[in-house]
Amino acid sequence: MRFAGKNAVITGAASGLGREVARRMAAEGAAHLLLLDRDAAGLAETEAACGGVGHAQVMNVADAEAWDALDAGTPDILICAAGILGPAVPIWECPPEAWDEIFAVNVRGTYLAARKIVPLMRKPGAIVNFASTAGIAGSAVLGPYSASKGAVLMLTKSLALGLATQDVRVNCVCPGSIETPMLTQTFAAAGDAAAQSARAEAYRQRHPMQRFGRPEEVAEAVLYLASDAAGFVTGVALPVDGGRLA
Ligand SMILES: NC(=O)c1ccc[n+]([C@@H]2O[C@H](COP(=O)([O-])OP(=O)(O)OC[C@H]3O[C@@H](n4cnc5c(N)ncnc54)[C@H](O)[C@@H]3O)[C@@H](O)[C@H]2O)c1
Repeated sequence: MRFAGKNAVITGAASGLGREVARRMAAEGAAHLLLLDRDAAGLAETEAACGGVGHAQVMNVADAEAWDALDAGTPDILICAAGILGPAVPIWECPPEAWDEIFAVNVRGTYLAARKIVPLMRKPGAIVNFASTAGIAGSAVLGPYSASKGAVLMLTKSLALGLATQDVRVNCVCPGSIETPMLTQTFAAAGDAAAQSARAEAYRQRHPMQRFGRPEEVAEAVLYLASDAAGFVTGVALPVDGGRLA
């Protein structure tokens, strides 16, 4: 029961990794989980899985006015999992609108969350952002996404330094390829069935553990960073990647 009595705000809570974090925080005693996402149907499912402590609010994390209007209470924890992949194209082929959208959701959304939540936080507070292995190593296929996740990583470190004496720790996880709808989308973007399975196999192979990660394996790392057990851990970008960056 690492989160007994804790209040958390979780973005991207309608699917994949955000949902898994929410579900497990609820199971470990959280008192109140504010679940944010733009997907109403997915949010309702997560809310149901959180057994009464989840409270869904449909929201676009890139919308500053929506953050201003949000009643976020007094959170102990902020988890920023909302993210999009954008088009799987080399950077020079990325349309400007798609580039702006990736940065709006992945980077601006993470910044706006901190802007809203940091002043409201109870101490000790903890923030966990979602970067990626693609935020540490570049990606020929997912160039715009990779650039955005590199920005999330440095946003995390700068926040950690800024809040180091204010009893708020800030870290991020850098997942490798994890079995969620986003990974399916990455493979689907490769083209026909043969191209999709070739990309899936190439992605699997580049993880020394020779498999994809499971959502619960990332959630466990997030929960550790969000918990008091990580009391002296701040500014860290933790790979959860089956050895991909080793
Ligand atoms: N799955 C992976 O392999 C992987 C690897 C590395 C990093 N990540 C990161 O982990 C995080 C979670 O990814 P996931 O795999 O669970 O993906 P997912 O697609 O299953 O979930 C992402 C969630 O973010 C929400 N979202 C997207 N744009 C939004 C917006 N503007 N406002 C509010 N909500 C929005 C989506 O509706 C969705 O519910 C993302 O930041 C992603 O970049 C995932």
